Amino acid sequence: MATSSSALLLFGATGDLSKRMLLPSLYALHEDGLIAANLRIVGTARSELSDDEFRAMAREALLEHLPEDRRHEENLASFIDHLVYQPLDASTIEGFDALAEKVGDISGGLSIFLSTAPFLFEPTIKGLKASGLAGENVRIGLEKPLGNDLASSRVINDAVASAFEEDRIFRIDHYLGKETVQNLLALRFANAMFEPLWNANGIDHVQITVSETVGLEGRHGFYDDTGALRDMVQNHMLQLLAITAMEPPADFDATAVRDEKVKVLRSLRPLEAAEMVRGQYGEGAVKGESVGSYEADLGESSDTETFVALKAHVDNWRWQGVPFYLRTGKRMAERRSEIVIQFKQVPHNIFAERGGELSANRLVIRLQPEEYVRLMVMAKKPSMDRDGVILREVPLDLSLTQAFAKARRRIAYERLLLDLIDGDPTLFVRRDEVEAQWKWIDAIRAMWTKQGMEPRSYGSGSWGPSAAIALTERDGRSWHE
Ligand code: BG6
Repeated sequence: MATSSSALLLFGATGDLSKRMLLPSLYALHEDGLIAANLRIVGTARSELSDDEFRAMAREALLEHLPEDRRHEENLASFIDHLVYQPLDASTIEGFDALAEKVGDISGGLSIFLSTAPFLFEPTIKGLKASGLAGENVRIGLEKPLGNDLASSRVINDAVASAFEEDRIFRIDHYLGKETVQNLLALRFANAMFEPLWNANGIDHVQITVSETVGLEGRHGFYDDTGALRDMVQNHMLQLLAITAMEPPADFDATAVRDEKVKVLRSLRPLEAAEMVRGQYGEGAVKGESVGSYEADLGESSDTETFVALKAHVDNWRWQGVPFYLRTGKRMAERRSEIVIQFKQVPHNIFAERGGELSANRLVIRLQPEEYVRLMVMAKKPSMDRDGVILREVPLDLSLTQAFAKARRRIAYERLLLDLIDGDPTLFVRRDEVEAQWKWIDAIRAMWTKQGMEPRSYGSGSWGPSAAIALTERDGRSWHE
C-alpha cells in the first residue's frame, strides 16, 4: 500500500463540485479521523480570494450541504484550519510557481484533484511539470469529462502521461465510489451461491437502469455538447456492466480487478441500429409538477439525446446469448439506479397441473435512492385451497441501510478522495478501460450518424420513448418497474 499524502491540491476549488461534494467529503473524512491532522488542503481556482475568503466560502458551503446534526462548530473550525488558497489562471504557466510555493514541502507526498474544462488539461499539466508539482511522489486524480471521443481522450491521456506514469493517474468515475457498487463485488465474490449461476446457463438477461428526474440543471452548454450516451453510458453504466460481468479477479487489488474489467469492456460487441434507442424529453410532469421540454430548457432546438436505451452483448464464453439492456435518461418517472439480474426459469414446473404459476428468480441490486439487494423467489401462499397451489413471488430482502444501520451513508467522493490521498487505485479507471469504453461508444455514435438517427421525443415523467419498451418486448422481456 502506498503512503498517504501530506498535501492535497484541489483544482476548481470554488466550483460547484467542490462545494457540493469535495469539501463536504473531506469534512466527513476529517470528522471520522480519516485524514491526518496535518494534511494541508490547498484550493486553487481563478477567483482572486485570500485564504480567509476561501475558508469563509468553504464554511458557507459546508453549512449549506451538511445535515444539521453534523455541523459541529469545533469540527468545522478544525477542518477549516486545513484549508489554504492560491488563485491561478491555469491557461498560462506564470502562476504555477506561486502555486508550488503555496503547496510547500511535498516530500511527504502530494495528491492533486483535477476537475477542469478539457481545454485546460494540457496547460495545467505543463504548469504542474514546470513548477515541480508532478514529481515521483505526486499522484493526480482526474474528473470527467476526459475527452468526448476516443481521439480526444487520447490527447488528454497523452498529456497527463507526459508528466505522470499510469500508476500515479487516478481517473474518477464516481459510481465506483458508491457503496452498493462495491457491495456487488462482495455479493458476487464473497458468497458461494451466486457465482455458479452467474453465466449464460443461469441468467436470462441483465438490466441496468440509471434514471433521473432532474433535467438540465443549468449545465446547458456542457450537456448539449455531450448527451446521455457520453454523459452516463460511456462511464458509469459501462463500469456497472463491467463489474457485473467480470470474471473473479485473483485478488482485490488494482491490477487484478482492472485486468478483469477491461476484458469485459473489450468483449462488448458493436451494436446494430435496431439495438439502440435515442430519446429527448418533451414536456410533461415529473412527480406531479409540470415541466417543460428539453428544447424549452435549452432555449433552442437541439438533436442531443437525454435518454438512451441499448441492448448490449458481452462476447465471451460466460455471457454468450445473454443481453445486457441498459437505459438512462433525464426527466424520467423516478430517480433510480439499479442492476437487475434476471435468472432463467426452472426447467420444469411441477406445480403446473395444480395451477401454480412460476416467475423466474430475479436479483435486484438497488444503488439509489435506497441501497438494497433483493432476491425475488417463489413461495407458496399459505392457504388450504382444494383447487390448487398458489405461488407468489416474494422478496428475500437485504436492506444495506438497515443491516448496517449504524454506518453513516457516505457519498461516493468520500471513498474516492480517501483512496486518492492513500494512493489506492483499485476504484479508479485505468487508461485501457477508458479507451475500450470510448471505442464502443464511438461506434454507436457513428451508427447514429450513418443512419440519421434522431432522438425520439418522450414525455417528461415517463420511462422514455415507446421504442425503449419495444427493445425488451421484442425479445419477450420487459423492463423491471
Ligand atoms: C454525472 C453526470 O456524471 O452523474 C450527471 O454528468 C448525472 O448528468 C450524475 O446527473 C448522476 O450521478 P448520481 O450519483 O446522482 O447518480
